Amino acid sequence: MQKKVQIGLVGLGTVGGGVYDALRRNGALMASRLGVGLRVRRVAVRNLSKRRVGANPPAAMLTTDWAAVANDPRVDLVVELIGGTTVARQVVLAALRAGKPVVTANKALLAFHGEELFAAARRYRANLYYEASVAGGIPIIKVLREALIGNRVTRLYGILNGTCNYILTRMQAEGAGFAEVLADAQRLGYAEADPSLDVDGHDAAHKAGILASLAHGFWVNPRQIHTEGIRHITALDLKFAAQLGYVIKLLAIVKKDGRGSAQVSVYPALIPKGHVMASVAGVFNAVYVRGDVVGDTLYYGRGAGADATASAVLSDLADAALDLKHHSTERVQAFVSHERNGALRPISAATNSFYLRLDVVDQPGVLARIAAILGRARIGISSVIQPEGHEGASVPLILMIHDAPEAAMARALGQIRKLNTIKGEPMMMRVENFT
Ligand code: HSE
Repeated sequence: MQKKVQIGLVGLGTVGGGVYDALRRNGALMASRLGVGLRVRRVAVRNLSKRRVGANPPAAMLTTDWAAVANDPRVDLVVELIGGTTVARQVVLAALRAGKPVVTANKALLAFHGEELFAAARRYRANLYYEASVAGGIPIIKVLREALIGNRVTRLYGILNGTCNYILTRMQAEGAGFAEVLADAQRLGYAEADPSLDVDGHDAAHKAGILASLAHGFWVNPRQIHTEGIRHITALDLKFAAQLGYVIKLLAIVKKDGRGSAQVSVYPALIPKGHVMASVAGVFNAVYVRGDVVGDTLYYGRGAGADATASAVLSDLADAALDLKHHSTERVQAFVSHERNGALRPISAATNSFYLRLDVVDQPGVLARIAAILGRARIGISSVIQPEGHEGASVPLILMIHDAPEAAMARALGQIRKLNTIKGEPMMMRVENFT
């Protein structure tokens, strides 16, 4: 039996440093629980002379050559924490080829190369662990892969991007605009200088693809995920949503019924104020999973940050250590393809409820023309609000639309947009009632 597992750490940034520190703090505790020790043997960094606060491995442990770490015969397992998809892919493939298990926190790498990497893991009989890739400290990969293995997952709703949740929470609380809150979040270091990956929904889509793949047994290409971000949401939308009994969240949604195809999408949605997902505030993440046996379950925690992500990496290190101890590459399967012919259903085939905010010229007959277009498309309006206190060339008009086919709604919206009494771009968001 292997008594000590020697770790090669590739990357010593925020997450890598967090892992190094957490291992120093709790490594002995983990060893007593696992019956096997964990020791960092070598660390690959970009810059040897960088001064590091906290994680400060001895200089003899450091190298700038990641390949030397992956191929070092004293290293039993490799932890890839450099991010990006080019070098990271090479690191993971090199380690797997050498028969070494790999732990990664890299969601973009898995989203775009997951199929190739899991195939390599099978070929070289070395496992690939990725708990930290989705929702940081929430053990959602373990939940889907192990705890809910006896369930068909019919619904999965995730608040998977802390930056967007932070921005929307502050817009809601302060009545502030998107640009103002984003600038403040950047100043505070909560949002990246280039915020596009977060605020345009791509980061959440990478994570949604990983969860959907795991839940449904076929690899989901992130390019096929319908993805919308939060840039276009205004303080007015959050105010009207609140008046109607909703909050707005960027949701990752995976829906599947029976043996049919799965729908995977990321978009901002109005969700009922009283729903438990509405209370997920600030940078926190949450995943709501419905299984056909277990019913509804909820997982909540920090989705990013050195400690939360390190906690997930430690969980993978423990699994990898146990697999090495028992010489098993099959106890925990990284990803099992069990629905080879699985397919994604495009959003155009879905039926949803909608919130529609139009800027209209305040004159008689405007509402009648809009209602006529929706009526001809057999789309039902469930409520209309024209709030008092708005004056000027145009005023807001809010329509709530109940259960309409996406394709019909898109066509109707195209016609509404062309009316000369509509000013500016209509704002359409979906309403999610978690049914
Ligand atoms: N940028 C991500 C977020 C964290 O804002 O949630 C890393 O996945």
